Amino acid sequence: MNNSIIQIRTYGKSEEGRLSFFEGSKDIPFEIKRIYYIYGVKVGEKRGMHAHKELQQVIWCPYGEVEIITDDGEQKTNYILDSPDKALQILKGHWRDIYWKKENSVLCVAASDYYDEADYIRDYDEYLDYVRRGC
Ligand code: TYD
Repeated sequence: MNNSIIQIRTYGKSEEGRLSFFEGSKDIPFEIKRIYYIYGVKVGEKRGMHAHKELQQVIWCPYGEVEIITDDGEQKTNYILDSPDKALQILKGHWRDIYWKKENSVLCVAASDYYDEADYIRDYDEYLDYVRRGC
């Protein structure tokens, strides 16, 4: 299975404003245990630079624009999040680099589990070993 862009359910027209929402286990394939968000990042800065062994995430950018490059150890894929009704599902075991493309962009994350540093792989060579060993 691959990472994928999800269209977030959205109500309303542009004149009256819009409302977007998704529900854990219904619109995304896991229960949400944690929400966090990243902001105040300068344009051109890079975040992420890690993979998760088990954690699944859905990320979206309610304001601004970010580019995400996911990597499964063999292939890299670019995604742009530039609209509040667009999200990216990142499966477990994928490396991700995230680039800030616009001033004041906010990146939100819905995660399948609580914060656990032991679930991170932060070294790229270690990540490649992990993938080659078959995770
Ligand atoms: P990290 O996930 O490494 O952020 P990024 O990928 O954007 O660089 O998180 C940075 C630090 O924040 C991490 O070392 C510990 C802390 N943190 C928590 O305490 N709880 C959380 O839920 C998250 C996501 C991070």
